[in-house]
Amino acid sequence: MPENLHVIILAAGAGTRMRSSVPKVMQPVGHKSMIQHVLGTAQQLNPDAIHVVYGHGGDQLREHLQAEQVNWVLQARQNGTGHAVELALAEIPDTARVLVLYGDVPLLLPESLQPVLPHDRAVLTTTLENPTGYGRIIRHPDQPACIARIVEEKDASDEEKAITEVNSGILLAGVGELKHWLSAVSDNNSQGEKYLTDVVALAANEQRPFTAVALADAQQVAGANTMAQLAALEKAWQQRQRDQLLQAGVRMANPESVMIRGTVTAGRDVFLDQGVILEGEVVLGDGVSIGPYSVLSDCQLENGATVHSHSIIEQARIGRQAQVGPFARIRPGTELGQHSKVGNFVEIKKTRLGAGSKASHLTYLGDAIIGNKVNIGAGTITCNYDGVNKHTTVIEDGAFIGSDTQLVAPVRVGANATLGAGTTLTRDAPPAQLTISRVKQRTIADWRSPMQKKNEQENS
Ligand code: UD1
Ligand code: CA
Repeated sequence: MPENLHVIILAAGAGTRMRSSVPKVMQPVGHKSMIQHVLGTAQQLNPDAIHVVYGHGGDQLREHLQAEQVNWVLQARQNGTGHAVELALAEIPDTARVLVLYGDVPLLLPESLQPVLPHDRAVLTTTLENPTGYGRIIRHPDQPACIARIVEEKDASDEEKAITEVNSGILLAGVGELKHWLSAVSDNNSQGEKYLTDVVALAANEQRPFTAVALADAQQVAGANTMAQLAALEKAWQQRQRDQLLQAGVRMANPESVMIRGTVTAGRDVFLDQGVILEGEVVLGDGVSIGPYSVLSDCQLENGATVHSHSIIEQARIGRQAQVGPFARIRPGTELGQHSKVGNFVEIKKTRLGAGSKASHLTYLGDAIIGNKVNIGAGTITCNYDGVNKHTTVIEDGAFIGSDTQLVAPVRVGANATLGAGTTLTRDAPPAQLTISRVKQRTIADWRSPMQKKNEQENS
């Protein structure tokens, strides 16, 4: 790895064409902002320092990246890429080397920069079928591996516009020489800006030309100026994430429909059905199957766990061979034991459900500690909140909770206890006995409905 490397990330652009109040480089691709992707790439190169040139939305951007080790360089007025780099260079020793990256080019992989780093001076280029809008690479007549100059679209002749090799914007050079060349660059061009790209011709004139390092995968250097381009980057990012999972042996019913907004670790024979969304850190064990339109964030599913359609799981652990859904909502702090089952319209929060226990229908379990082989009947509710505090419900092994039961926490159900259907439990239920709180059923024989009474009155 080359010594003494500094990275400059250009991020002062207003991003007007996004038509958003969020600074452009903070727009997300996958689960991270564009600038976070670029920072991640920069960090992997282990530079001495990373300098971010910012302008528009400065406070928001600094707040967004407050946890990161970066040197902030304010460019109050956008006088061009050359001007932006010049401001950052003022804070870097002349003996260092500098790599310029763009805050709105998030798909670049660190390995694509490796061929750039060994050079003294280099520009990363790529070839585009439609090069419109990009700076064109004019190769050096005597040294074809090098560049004679870069001409911006707005300043290019028709002949130059026909060139399909373009400037990615990513450039490497020595700090001293870059300062020297930039001091000679003027803003005498169609945009009235100081172009960073103008240093390339100055370098060639001094017999120190930039090498062109061509990158075959043009997608990696694509930037986003509009929401349409951002959507295209998102699509490419999603494709990249899915390809990695497919390569790792994950089966998908319809890959295009699967969205990955985070990091997924998957075992063997994992299956993702239509419309699955995975967010944050998701770990899927061997044989895990996720049904259609389920959303999983920051969770771990152990071997053989099955999630049926339209289920939402967030910050939870799902045990071996456990079953979830359809239409289940598993909220943060939940742990489902092995072979447990959570069925439709069940919401579970901060609850441990033991091995082999079941809550198959229409239930709310919150702040509960539930043992093994417990059966929770339909319509059971843990009344965990008194309006001020949350309280815990404990249900010991083997208990049977009849349907439509309310457990008013704090309360405990002993092992192998049975609660009769419709019970409102306000005190602990002893183990291995039936506890029931139910109004005794009666039938009123001479009862008449208001309608019957009315008819009788009319007829009398
Ligand atoms: C630039 C290159 C062009 C290249 C293209 C690749 C120049 C003159 N042109 O053109 O050759 O093909 O990128 O995408 O460099 N920025 C600042 N301060 C400024 C101006 C820009 O920080 O004063 C930042 C922007 O936020 C952006 C980046 O620099 O991240 C590029 O600026 P932009 O205006 O988009 O340059 P292009 O015209 O696309
Ligand atoms: Ca641009």
